Amino acid sequence: MDFDRYAVIGNPIAHSKSPQIHAEFALQLRQTLEYSRLLGALDDFSGDVQRFFADGGKGLNVTVPFKEEAFALAAERSVRAEVAGAVNTLLVVDGRLYGDNTDGIGLVRDLSINHAFPLGGARVLLLGAGGAARGVMMPLLEAGIGQLALANRTAAKAEALAERVNNWQLSGVRCQVTGCGLAALGGQQFDLIINATSAGLTDAVPELPAGCVAPGGWTYDLLYGEHPTAFQRWSQTQGAAQSLNGLGMLVEQAAEAFWLWRGLRPNTAPVIAQLAA
Ligand code: ATR
Repeated sequence: MDFDRYAVIGNPIAHSKSPQIHAEFALQLRQTLEYSRLLGALDDFSGDVQRFFADGGKGLNVTVPFKEEAFALAAERSVRAEVAGAVNTLLVVDGRLYGDNTDGIGLVRDLSINHAFPLGGARVLLLGAGGAARGVMMPLLEAGIGQLALANRTAAKAEALAERVNNWQLSGVRCQVTGCGLAALGGQQFDLIINATSAGLTDAVPELPAGCVAPGGWTYDLLYGEHPTAFQRWSQTQGAAQSLNGLGMLVEQAAEAFWLWRGLRPNTAPVIAQLAA
């Protein structure tokens, strides 16, 4: 029997949980498909992608360090991928390579559906100004947040990114985005602080002034691990009411990709629970 073939491409790739997640989705929805890991060549990402689709592959997830290259390679892109400047999901639509970015909607769904966090009107601080931060901005704005402050160790990058997003004038989004350095946050409070920096990879946290977490405020680290991340531990010291990690977002971004590819929405809760266990 011929299976529809999907894969996640990255470098390194051995650690990826995506095959396990998509296998669970397929089982749940009785879909016969194959989803594998693909180690992308650092100097020939486009060749790898072209060969995959030429061989009949149906869809790719793209991870570090290829999301920007995937963006450049896609002939058509969703608006949220345009705003992100990065693509994490590829498929062929009408014979053309189509790129989308499901990271931000994954974050929004994890917060608003899985955890019932009220995003509407929320004062949100997003830490970082790299690809991870760019990837989540548009869905956050579309979720109706009241304020989006971008703060970055290198202030100029956050300022430039804020200006870039404001220039998009996304329909239905009235919230102005601001950019600044970390120290400039002194005296400000936020209902939700999202860590989209890579500081956690070395067990570090961005150096924020104390008191930025509003009473009852939540924090969310896009990273995840078996143990609480450095940012989650910092959040506890700041009195955050909840400090979540990115496991839920990982499963939700996968579910959105599954939806794009198969037109079916998996039930994510049991898959998140299984991975967390
Ligand atoms: P990604 O694609 O994961 O976003 P990136 O584009 O390299 O990766 O961006 C990494 C982000 O983490 C940047 O915003 C970086 O801040 P700088 O622009 O000042 O470099 C941020 N970052 C990394 N280590 C950090 C640390 N120890 N403290 C604060 N911010 C850090």
